[in-house]
Amino acid sequence: MQTSDVVIIGAGAAGLMCAFVAARRGRRVLLLDHANKAGKKILMSGGGRCNFTNLYTEPANFLSGNPHFCKSALARYTQWDFIALVAKHGVPYHEKKLGQLFCDNKSSDILGMLLDECREAGVELRLETHIQQIERSESGYQLQTSAGAVTCQSLVIATGGLSIPTLGATGFGYQVARQFGHDVLPTRAGLVPFTLTDPQLKALCSELSGTSVEDCLVSCNGQSFRENILFTHRGLSGPAILQISSFWQPGDTVEINLLPHLDLLDWLTTQQRERPNSELKTLLAELFTKKMAGLLSEQWFVSKPVKQYVPTELEAIAERLSCWSLVPSGTEGYRTAEVTLGGVDTQEVSSKTMESRKSPGLYFIGEVLDVTGHLGGFNFQWAWASGFAAAQYV
Ligand code: FDA
Repeated sequence: MQTSDVVIIGAGAAGLMCAFVAARRGRRVLLLDHANKAGKKILMSGGGRCNFTNLYTEPANFLSGNPHFCKSALARYTQWDFIALVAKHGVPYHEKKLGQLFCDNKSSDILGMLLDECREAGVELRLETHIQQIERSESGYQLQTSAGAVTCQSLVIATGGLSIPTLGATGFGYQVARQFGHDVLPTRAGLVPFTLTDPQLKALCSELSGTSVEDCLVSCNGQSFRENILFTHRGLSGPAILQISSFWQPGDTVEINLLPHLDLLDWLTTQQRERPNSELKTLLAELFTKKMAGLLSEQWFVSKPVKQYVPTELEAIAERLSCWSLVPSGTEGYRTAEVTLGGVDTQEVSSKTMESRKSPGLYFIGEVLDVTGHLGGFNFQWAWASGFAAAQYV
């Protein structure tokens, strides 16, 4: 029987942070993961360059049943704290856009940094270890694992959400939460592409697969994001779509303004006056790719010389392009989602310590909790901040 002060299950972003910070406090920390490698999502993240935080992180960038829950941890371990750690390790990085910080080189710089910190702090990392049973003991918790029994005073659940099962994601954390009397709020895929079944729309997206529209305003349920969108074989993706997907529920309508930077009716009226013989598709090719302009002109409108349109027709064109309404048939699901919405109900967890209010000595950190960030480095910032918060008390 091995004895440890702290056992952390899940060697992902939150678990690694919590492990070395707790170990630096002098706690004996055992970090367990069933995968053959720590931090697989860190390696995959940000297209291989890990968007590790966001300069403009604020509580408003997070979705949760309790929007106040994330405030304390985010205030006590900020983006500036993580940037200082990155700088201490000499990891080169840059701001891509909108405050999003990415590695200049590879995500492995961030993972390497966290593993170095764990090594220096004396964290014991054990991979390919399966947790078979967890029970309360007199002094804390007792675990049966594929590598033998372990007891600890503090048990930290850092097993993340359900997104991308091939990277080791499981619902284990929710199972442990329920075992100790916690509510788990319904989960669904977030930051995920939309799929379409309407044959015409699907065909349009498929034909335009790989095409992006740089500046779109995408809205749903009172939320809007202005970023680019991407057509895919199955529907729509790109940052603005991923962002809005977290606010979308099946059956909801999504509105897309394909040209938010332009008063389109005014522009079309000017073209009609100045270039009356130009065809609609030629004009639209100045705003979109030639292929997209051609497809939209054929499928949504009738392309003819602009002088032949009556004002109501121009209004209809402007309306369609600035207020494209569609009802996605679904999302790509956990297979490709970046995050999982919902999770362990924060009402029963201390926002200061991340400790369970139902079972003393049990902690939840990272994505397993019902806290989900917008796209742009916010989810990692939550993992670092919640991991750091728990590490002060475990
Ligand atoms: P995380 O998922 O990192 O770690 C959980 C760990 O628990 C894993 O190592 C897993 O193997 C382990 N585990 C699970 N079940 C277990 C069990 N039963 N027994 C033992 N171990 C178990 N965010 C961001 O801010 N910037 C970005 O650039 C990206 N990019 C990105 C790309 C892709 C493809 C994905 C899927 C996600 C992102 N994200 C992101 C989101 C980000 O990766 C995510 O929010 C954090 O990794 C969550 O950190 P956690 O530590 O909570 O879980």
